[in-house]
Formats: sequence, structure tokens, C-alpha cells
Amino acid sequence: MAADLPWWTRAVVYQVYPRSFMDSDGDGIGDLGGVLARLDHLSDLGVDVLWLSPVYPSPQADNGYDISDYQAIDPLFGSLDQLDELVEALHARGMRLLMDLVVNHSSDEHPWFVESRSGPTSPKRDWYWWRPPRPGMAAGDPGAEPTNWQSHFSGPTWTLDPASGEYYLHLFDRKQPDLNWENPEVRQAVHAMMRWWLDRGVDGFRMDVINMISKDVTPDGRLHDGPPLPGSALGDGSGSFLGGPRIHEFLAEMHREVFAGRDGAFLTVGEMPGVTVEQARVFTDPARAEVDMVFQFEHVGLDHGTSKWDVHPLRMRDLKASFGRWQAGLSDVGWNSLYWDNHDQPRAVTRFGDDSPRYRRDSATCLATLLHLHRGTPYVYQGQELGMANFPFATLEDFADVESLNHYVHAVSAGESADSVLTALRRMSRDNARTPVQWDASPSAGFTTGTPWLPVNPDHREWNAAAQRDDPASVLAHYRRLIALRHEEPVVALGDFAMLLPDHDEVYAFTRTLGEDALLVACNLGRRPQPLFELLPRAKEAPLVLGNLPIEDAAVLGPWEARVVRLP
Ligand code: NOJ
Repeated sequence: MAADLPWWTRAVVYQVYPRSFMDSDGDGIGDLGGVLARLDHLSDLGVDVLWLSPVYPSPQADNGYDISDYQAIDPLFGSLDQLDELVEALHARGMRLLMDLVVNHSSDEHPWFVESRSGPTSPKRDWYWWRPPRPGMAAGDPGAEPTNWQSHFSGPTWTLDPASGEYYLHLFDRKQPDLNWENPEVRQAVHAMMRWWLDRGVDGFRMDVINMISKDVTPDGRLHDGPPLPGSALGDGSGSFLGGPRIHEFLAEMHREVFAGRDGAFLTVGEMPGVTVEQARVFTDPARAEVDMVFQFEHVGLDHGTSKWDVHPLRMRDLKASFGRWQAGLSDVGWNSLYWDNHDQPRAVTRFGDDSPRYRRDSATCLATLLHLHRGTPYVYQGQELGMANFPFATLEDFADVESLNHYVHAVSAGESADSVLTALRRMSRDNARTPVQWDASPSAGFTTGTPWLPVNPDHREWNAAAQRDDPASVLAHYRRLIALRHEEPVVALGDFAMLLPDHDEVYAFTRTLGEDALLVACNLGRRPQPLFELLPRAKEAPLVLGNLPIEDAAVLGPWEARVVRLP
């Protein structure tokens, strides 16, 4: 049976956020030349797939997640020739390339939107969501927006276009208008664009907020208000756009129009905020041919209170309950993707690990072991394999991200103290993930010869790739071993998962079983030593497969120690 499973069930994906990966031309912004120059790093790590965050022409309001031309490369990042070169170089090394597909919205500078905005009679008017003010109100009146939805980047999801007196919808920034997927011409244009990339040799897509493309709209074009948000004039519109009524139809159609009948080995992963296990089973059921796997958000929401800016400590039981449910829910149908870090999340070693000098390496490797031993496809975000941590942001001027800056303006104008907003930004801002990759100990960390667009973390003098490359005890070396283990051991890629000790507050343990072969994984997510053999007597006679620390006393799991053993 294992032989029939798709290639990506044994694969590890590496995400490159190109702005911050490697700069080859000294302008302080990473680029394709930089990615090409660092491919050895990826081969050396042993990853199978490179997911490239957007490199298309863009005004960069959201660092490229606002695209103004889907079929070209922004000169900031290089050229189409370099992209072709990247495809070829990756394929020559046995790796594959995933492009980022951002089609819930485009940039407001995309010619489609420019045309659409030109007036109510534009042939592309209906390619986006244009609506008059709320009945009985005048354009621009407070509260006259067509619905009460709050944008993911603060404020209303509607911006008035004074020329026509109509509003356009943007679930994200005002520079990211939502495309109207109800219109078949929009869908056909997206499908044609995707085929064009596949024809160039790319191997699939990571699909940005793809569960938001279908909006719950009445036959006469009305959209509904959402429940009011506490303490705000706005409401939660997610009931109208998360997993909307036509989402399965749109994804199945996309699959049919783009992938079906095409020779090749592709991968599609749909980013789906708010997706439940039950929904993910449907989205990733191979019989339905929609997407291969989804990015779910449950575990990265466990430290959120009323919003991501209201930070709470992670409770171990919640993490176990959540991951356990996802492992069980997708065991017979569908497939999990596994991640801690990406360009939207603060660094996991700071957030869920312990980035004190004493435990940073150990907690980074412990978290990595936990994740990589689950069933699913692991994603490594650039720098995670080096133990990169959050940045010591001092003032508001240190932040660049549109989400952080919008949040600051809205929260402070709503009466929150500037200090408390800054404290939350320091912990949760996406900029934590976006500081340049730390290649070496030189002043700009080997990232650029110019001035980096976001400062390099001062800790790069100690935490960098050059220092770790030949050190068998490094975080990097541990990632290499984890990735190799998945390739070598069918039980790691494919074995069944069973959670152990669901109520223990510090030890995260589980088994993986494939036929007669069984592994036990035990991770101590804290500073207190744990009596391993008392907690898990089966570990006693079990030989070590992989660990993150030298073992002094086999019966004890040391602080942040992770052990993988083979059950006799
Ligand atoms: C999800 C992306 O990962 C994020 O970076 C972006 O800001 C939003 N989607 C909007 O495209």
C-alpha cells in the first residue's frame, strides 16, 4: 500500500520568503539570484520541495501578497529567466518548486482592478466586489459600508471609491481588493495563469487563504452582516467567507481545469484559516480531487485570547488535544501538513520553546523533533533550521509589516495604551519571522552587501548557518537528521499516530506504528527533568533511533530533551 501513496507523503517542504532569504545585488532585499546562490543549503538539508513566497510584480503593500501581474517576476526579485533557471536547478537536484498562488485578491494596481475601478459599466466591474452604500445611507457616512465586516488587517473590509460612490471589498488591506469568484471569467483567467506556470515547469502551488474565495452571497447579490465584535462598531464576517457555499465547487473545478490529465507529480496545499478537521477531511479527500493538504491554524491560535494580540501562554493539554484530533481526523482520509513557523508567525523557539541562551538550541531541536515525527508533511520556514528567534524590537519605527502598523493605529485610536500595543507587537508581529536569514557572523549576516530592508537580528553573531554547518550538535545538523529519518524510515512518513499522556503538562509523547514497526517519541517541553521510565515504561528496553541531547541517565528525560526510540 505504501508504494501507492503520493510522493509528498514522504516529503519535507522548505519555505523561502524571498525578501529575507538572500540578496544577490546589494539593494538590501533578497532576490532570486540569492535563492540560486544558496541552493546548496537546501540540498544539504535534504528537503524535497521549495515553496517560494510571492516574487511577482507588486507594489509590496503586503510584501508581494498584493500582486499586480500574475505572469511575471518583479524586477526587485529578478527575472523570469532566473525563475526558469531556478526550476531547472531544483529539478537537477531532485527538488521541486511550489509557487505561491494569491488569488483571493489581487493588488489594487493590477490592470484588472484598474479597469474594474474605471466605472460601473467597465467590462471588468464584476471581477471584484463593488457595492453601493448601505440602504438609506450616503457614501462615506460612518457605518455606510455595505457590510459590517472587520478586515484581517484592522478597520472595515470596504473602501469607498469616490468616483463611483461605490465601495470595494478587501478582506485584507485596502490595496488587496477581493476577486469575485462568482464570475466565471475570473476563474478562467486564474486557471489559465496556473496552467502557464505549470507549463514553465513548476510543480504546484501553495494557495493563499484559498478557503475565502467563495462568499455567501444571495442570488440578488446581497452580502450579510456578521455578529458584532465586542467593543467595536465592526462585526465578524467570517461566516460569510470562510469555507463559503461554492468553495468545494471552485476547488474541484480548479483541479479539473489545471491539473487533471496533466503528466507530472504535483502538490497543492491550501492555506485555510479557521478550517476544522471535519472540513479538512473533505478538502483533502483524494477521491474528491480538490487539494492535497491544507494549512490549518488551530495550534497557532492556542495562545490567542480575543485576538492574536491578546497573548496567553500555551497549555500543553490544548496542544495535545488539537494535534491529536488532527492526526486522528486525517488518518484514514486526507493528509496533514505540519508547521510551527512561517512568514506570518512569530518564531516558534521564542513563542513555544525557550530562547534563553541555555535552552535555545535544545528547545529548538525538541520542538522540531516533536513536529517532524508526526504523520503529515513537515514545512520548515527559512531560519527555523538555524534556531532563529524573535527580534528585539524597541520602538514602533522598527516594524514594517502592514498588519502590525494597521493594528497599532487602530488599537491606539480605540484607546489602548501605546505601550501595551507595542508589547503585543513585539511578541506576535509577523516581522519577527521576516528578519534576514542569518548566514554568517558578518555585520549583515551574509544576507546582503547593502543595508538590509529589515535589520538583521543582533544574535546572528552566534546564531548563523556558517557556525552550524559542520557542528554535529547544531540545530541545523538536527534538522538534517530529522529530514533524513523521514526519508529512510517508512514508519516516520506513514505510520499510524497514537497520542500518549494526554493530560501531562510537560511531556509530549506518542507512538507511530507501521505493521510490526513501532516508534515511541517523548519530548520534554520544559526545564524540569522528567522520569521517562516511570511515565512511559515501554521506553526502558527500547533502543534509541534519534535524540537531541547526549543521554546521561536513560531513565530521565532532561530539560527540553526529545527522544525517539524503537519499541521492541
Ligand atoms: C496569508 C499570507 O500568508 C499573508 O502573508 C498575507 O498577508 C495574507 N494571506 C493576505 O494575502
